[in-house]
Amino acid sequence: MSINIVILAAGQGTRMRSDLPKVLHTLGGKPLLQHVYELAIGLSPDTLTIVYGHGGELVRSRFPSWKANWVEQSRQLGTGHAVQQTVPHLGEGQVLILYGDVPLLKQETLSHLLDSGGGGVALLTVRLENPSGYGRIVRDQQGRVRRIVEEKDASEEEKRITEVNTGILAVPSRYLRLWLERLDNDNAQGEFYLTDIIAMAVEDGVDVQTVSAEADEVEGINDKRQLAQMERVYQRRQAEALMARGVTLRDPERFELRGEIEAVGRDVEIDVNVILEGTIRLGGGVRIGAGSVIRDADIGDGVDILPYSVLDDVRIGAGGRIGPFARLRPQTELAEEVHIGNFVEIKKSSVGQGSKINHLSYVGDSEVGAGVNIGAGTITCNYDGANKFKTIIEDGAFIGSDTQLVAPVRVGRGATIGAGSTITRDAPQEKLTLSRSSQVTVEHWQRPRKKT
Ligand code: UD1
Ligand code: CA
Repeated sequence: MSINIVILAAGQGTRMRSDLPKVLHTLGGKPLLQHVYELAIGLSPDTLTIVYGHGGELVRSRFPSWKANWVEQSRQLGTGHAVQQTVPHLGEGQVLILYGDVPLLKQETLSHLLDSGGGGVALLTVRLENPSGYGRIVRDQQGRVRRIVEEKDASEEEKRITEVNTGILAVPSRYLRLWLERLDNDNAQGEFYLTDIIAMAVEDGVDVQTVSAEADEVEGINDKRQLAQMERVYQRRQAEALMARGVTLRDPERFELRGEIEAVGRDVEIDVNVILEGTIRLGGGVRIGAGSVIRDADIGDGVDILPYSVLDDVRIGAGGRIGPFARLRPQTELAEEVHIGNFVEIKKSSVGQGSKINHLSYVGDSEVGAGVNIGAGTITCNYDGANKFKTIIEDGAFIGSDTQLVAPVRVGRGATIGAGSTITRDAPQEKLTLSRSSQVTVEHWQRPRKKT
């Protein structure tokens, strides 16, 4: 049967106390609405319609490539009114209503809901210890659903019902259109309630089934506290999925994935407080030390990333050793067996096989060959205040400690640079090049003293 999905996202989100529209706040680094969109797309709907309101243009322009009908609901007159706006876009078959601020539904729950409707209505409900604020599911003596009553319209007895409406439901398109026309706003909030269609279904003899969900899955996000709670739920799910793929997480409660792990080898170990962002590939035996932050990285087999390293847009060949406290910036490519040590920053550079940059260096806009050793405190001076220039260090070169390489400059194959040099011209291969005044000792010199 054809599926039409409607995502309601017109709410103001006042309780977020933010200039950003609520559905653009992120969970696991991804906007709430994108979670729901991806969930919807996963069900291969025939039509997808998003109802937007407050801050809507900002929301809409954020996702230009989405295959969706965007419908504006300029005044929020209720969930029923919101769905009324989508009618011109609905085809035949079923209509599934989702919410832009309910991001963690599972696809299997929705598939189950769609299958449960038969020719009638399927309602996703949940039992809550504290149901206050939610619409209650009113059943008759036989346990058949009769209607939904909103908290503000409920009698004391109805308020004691703990089975509540999640808002998520599947309904045949042809009935929905008829029922939407019959909605009124004669209730405590003066809103057009979508939930009133349940009583209409009962009245018209259309079957209403319920599917029960877990509370975590259907929780909506209205404020920052709920956003933080749902972040934990989401991260726990991701950690579990990763452990199922064989990854050792030293503490799944202290692991954050704000993106996707595209590939992961065997025996990967991730220590506590690691943050992974963007698109990540991890080879077999990779170890990531505590407190490291890694974004958009392709990390080869056996790479050891020591604690507190920060990596962004990098490729690291097999057997590399990075950190502790290393910073690899965009467009860094390290071949196999490269060692990058503490307080080393590398930007837009390639480093050849087996090369070592172990202490306190800055290497930017550089091509470093294989088997190169770069001594402590070496700096590539890549910027003259206006333009950037390249440093090329050929295979087997040895750069003495505390060297400045003033780009553009080339250090030839097998060349040695003496420690403490400022190199402004190319250094020939296989030779020792250095630039520093020779050492002198001043006899009879006295250190100044304070006058008494
Ligand atoms: C709604 C349900 C209630 C259910 C609860 C679950 C109705 C009448 N009530 O109540 O039974 O227990 O959700 O959270 O449906 N929205 C619009 N346009 C509007 C109004 C709302 O797009 O005019 C969107 C909001 O952005 C939000 C969703 O619909 O994502 C729910 O709206 P909200 O006002 O939170 O509904 P509740 O009163 O909580
Ligand atoms: Ca709500």
